[in-house]
Amino acid sequence: YTIPVITIDGPTASGKGTVAHRVALHLGFHYLDSGALYRLTALSALRHNVALNDEHALAKLAEKLPCKFLGDEIWLANENVSNAIRAEEVGNTASKIAALPTVRHALASLQHGFRAAPGLVADGRDMGTVIFPRATLKVFLTASVEARAQRRYKQLIEKGFSASMENLLKDLRERDARDSNRAVAPLKPAEGAHFLDTSDMTADQAVEQVLQWYAAVK
Ligand code: C5P
Repeated sequence: YTIPVITIDGPTASGKGTVAHRVALHLGFHYLDSGALYRLTALSALRHNVALNDEHALAKLAEKLPCKFLGDEIWLANENVSNAIRAEEVGNTASKIAALPTVRHALASLQHGFRAAPGLVADGRDMGTVIFPRATLKVFLTASVEARAQRRYKQLIEKGFSASMENLLKDLRERDARDSNRAVAPLKPAEGAHFLDTSDMTADQAVEQVLQWYAAVK
């Protein structure tokens, strides 16, 4: 690509969002939170009572998603849904509809549109494998399920949601299985991806590592 792309893929709550966002800020690049697009589609489906197995209706919602990314805020039509899309129910629904090829297809061109000068940092499950296969740098970011549950617990409590560790662990395991075993665009390391296990790392350390890798390949 003439415009550089850094992809950061990994499981739910691995910290990839925080790391990707900070790397983008540091480099002055655009940032794509692709999971947010699946969450927006899920929220939209829940709001409009669209059946979660109605592929056609869901793809239509995804195609015409009236979403806007304004700085750190995410809007759906006239509503700031930055917090609403982080609810566990929305995440679980997102992971279900993300298994549908029609939905993935509908969101693909939207995602390609984020690649703009001076560069893009994209995080998700299939950024390096499917959406930006020729990315400048590909990172596969993981953390133990316990470390991820801890982080998610903290996030939820800070945002004013209630949460239980036991349920979070169960949900994470289920979602990992669904994201990794689905037929279309399963979560797996892209060819040539750098591995980063952040279980015992701070976000700053992870950001530093990604920036070092990028400096070496750019
Ligand atoms: O990353 P996040 O938890 O916000 O993503 C929500 C759900 O969207 C994930 O569980 C996953 O199933 C789906 N997703 C995906 N492909 C992406 C990003 C997210 O399938 N590139």
